[in-house]
Amino acid sequence: MPGKRIAVIGAGVSGLGAIKSCLEVGLEPTCFEGSNDIGGLWRYEEKTEGGRPSIYRSATSNTSKEMTAYSDYPFPAHFPNYVHNSKIMEYLRMYVRHFHLTKHIRFLTRVRSVRKRPDFCSTGQWDVVVETEGKQESYVFDGIMVCTGLYSEPVLPLENFPGIKRFKGEYIHSWEYKSPEKFQGKRIVVVGIGNSGVDLAIDLSRVASQVFLSTRTGSWIWNRVWDNGLPMDVALFSRFNSILENLMPTFLTNRLAENKLNARFNHDMYGLQPKHRFLNSSRDTRRVPFIDYMDDIASEIGVKPNLLSLLLWDPKLAVKSFFGPCTPYQYRLQGPGSWAGAREAIMTQTERIIKPLRTRSLACAPPQHSLPCWLKSVCVALLVSVLTVVLLKQ
Ligand SMILES: Cc1cc2nc3c(=O)[nH]c(=O)nc-3n(C[C@H](O)[C@H](O)[C@H](O)COP(=O)(O)OP(=O)(O)OC[C@H]3O[C@@H](n4cnc5c(N)ncnc54)[C@H](O)[C@@H]3O)c2cc1C
Ligand SMILES: NC(=O)c1ccc[n+]([C@@H]2O[C@H](COP(=O)([O-])OP(=O)(O)OC[C@H]3O[C@@H](n4cnc5c(N)ncnc54)[C@H](OP(=O)(O)O)[C@@H]3O)[C@@H](O)[C@H]2O)c1
Repeated sequence: MPGKRIAVIGAGVSGLGAIKSCLEVGLEPTCFEGSNDIGGLWRYEEKTEGGRPSIYRSATSNTSKEMTAYSDYPFPAHFPNYVHNSKIMEYLRMYVRHFHLTKHIRFLTRVRSVRKRPDFCSTGQWDVVVETEGKQESYVFDGIMVCTGLYSEPVLPLENFPGIKRFKGEYIHSWEYKSPEKFQGKRIVVVGIGNSGVDLAIDLSRVASQVFLSTRTGSWIWNRVWDNGLPMDVALFSRFNSILENLMPTFLTNRLAENKLNARFNHDMYGLQPKHRFLNSSRDTRRVPFIDYMDDIASEIGVKPNLLSLLLWDPKLAVKSFFGPCTPYQYRLQGPGSWAGAREAIMTQTERIIKPLRTRSLACAPPQHSLPCWLKSVCVALLVSVLTVVLLKQ
């Protein structure tokens, strides 16, 4: 729909990507952002503001830079693999500058309502009411991209804590937490062992007299840094591993994963052993198998990489795409929106991962971590057979 006008609501990570994607296909985006700047959740502010996401000063990504990057804009090589919020903002500002996105954003403008127009059936158009400094304006758009995020308001289920009315201390939601200073010397209980709970317990433990981390169901604890010191997602989220996982019976995947996590530390000994098996968590209903999910969407828009044809015309790239981490650049190799830099981005991703780690050069030769030649050949043969079976089945 070239030339059509699109309202993008929110200028966080999703909104910025949405503006860029509209421009790529000749749509005319106008992004409305309620605050005075880009970045959404990742823009740290000292004060919280109702209706806006909020993070604490120490917040750092739990997805690594190569897996988190926009598909046509890798993070700079020298950035750490897990990125502090200030560095994510730096990256987002570079992205906005590089693709000239600012001129499409109207700051301090909240979208108040989005409604189908009376002639929506024939035009597909929407009435959008926005508010800037108390003044409302109406616009008509051909499409809406809702990029308002998930974490703008705290959810504090006080009904589950009947004693709270008698509690003489202070209680807050993690949305309100910024830094540990004002909790110096206090006894604190952090309720919930999600990523927020664990991050806050660690932050607070440095100044509080004691910190208790409370959990009602336990949890499987993952570390950001995995075998060989690689980022966890880089080490685990490959197409090769995804196929293995799909072929393996669930009980075996559970057993292997739980053994691995228990080898790091014994969940039972720490009182953390969850009631749920590794793959059957009820609180993980929003979570999806990353590569299958990405591939499903990619197939719909025609950008899923065809590894079999890749194997024929660019075997090095095919091997890297199959055994290496499934980085976003893979979805820019072919089809609509393909990017000439995608191959280079994939072939150099390991260098960008290693760059911030290797802060001095050693005189001795580094240990060889790569697979022996015979094993590589077996793996390539396996890849060809699996791909052939998959293709024949389709
Ligand atoms: C503490 C924390 C850490 C996280 N860490 C990671 C991580 O490491 N990796 C990862 O992939 N994900 C992580 N997430 C998930 C996170 O939600 C995403 O990384 C990302 O910020 C989502 O971006 P977004 O643009 O969808 O939403 P947001 O970042 O929430 O941005 C939404 C924007 O929309 C604006 N807005 C909202 N309503 C309106 C309106 N009506 N009119 C105008 N503007 C409006 C807001 O002002 C805001 O700027 C984390 C989440 C939390 C809470
Ligand atoms: N980059 C980072 O490091 C980072 C940091 C923070 C958050 N995040 C992301 O932000 C998102 C939200 O994370 P989150 O940790 O804020 O939320 P979350 O993952 O939903 O975890 C919430 C925790 O609170 C507990 N809980 C909820 N209601 C409760 C109740 N009524 N009584 C007792 N316990 C209760 C839950 O227990 P049950 O498990 O028993 O339900 C769970 O342990 C996730 O995507 C996460 O990855 C990332």
